[in-house]
Amino acid sequence: MKFFVDTADVKEISELNALGLLDGVTTNPSLIMKAGRDIIEVTKEICDIVDGPVSAEVTATEYDAMMKEAAVLSKIADNICIKVPLTFDGLKACKALTSDGRKVNVTLCFAANQALLAAKAGATFISPFIGRIDDMGIDGMELISEIRTIYDNYDFKTEILAASIRTVNHVKQAALIGADVATVPPATLRALVKHPLTDKGLDAFLADWAKTGQKIG
Ligand code: E4P
Repeated sequence: MKFFVDTADVKEISELNALGLLDGVTTNPSLIMKAGRDIIEVTKEICDIVDGPVSAEVTATEYDAMMKEAAVLSKIADNICIKVPLTFDGLKACKALTSDGRKVNVTLCFAANQALLAAKAGATFISPFIGRIDDMGIDGMELISEIRTIYDNYDFKTEILAASIRTVNHVKQAALIGADVATVPPATLRALVKHPLTDKGLDAFLADWAKTGQKIG
């Protein structure tokens, strides 16, 4: 499973990338707002840090305007992945951009049929929003499972990018179902390593080691 980090915070991206665990980055207009930075400037910085795909979202809602914005975003760096919303205009832009060799992330997916359309439009990634479905009292993981089945039935190459991840359990469930990628907020990504028995075990090993009086090397 690939890990993307879901943020436009350059410091967080830099630190997580240094761990060697990052395969890409996703941003959206809300995350750009939160970072308080110019979209072009901050996205360029992110692309300079991370080798993998960096999703940058168009904000236009009509095809022609989306394509104009996509052209501007594409110029930022070679690893830009254009993010488009799951609308007919977004799907049309997806088809045109992927036919032109661009990577496209189709975002705001809340239903299996939407994911089917995105795959038919040649999407590189489909982003089902797990947490926001959970918020409605419906199990978001069911959607990942349905999309996995549909994509496998027809051998679609579109990668399932589990998005709106809120917990470490979301990551585990998405991995068990076979999502190709999870885009995870920095704090949740850091929490993946945590286990109380790991901390307790390490403390015990270090205490016993100190009693031996030995040093390695
Ligand atoms: C995905 O690409 C989105 O940026 C993100 O996962 C949305 O998550 P949220 O529901 O926490 O805003």
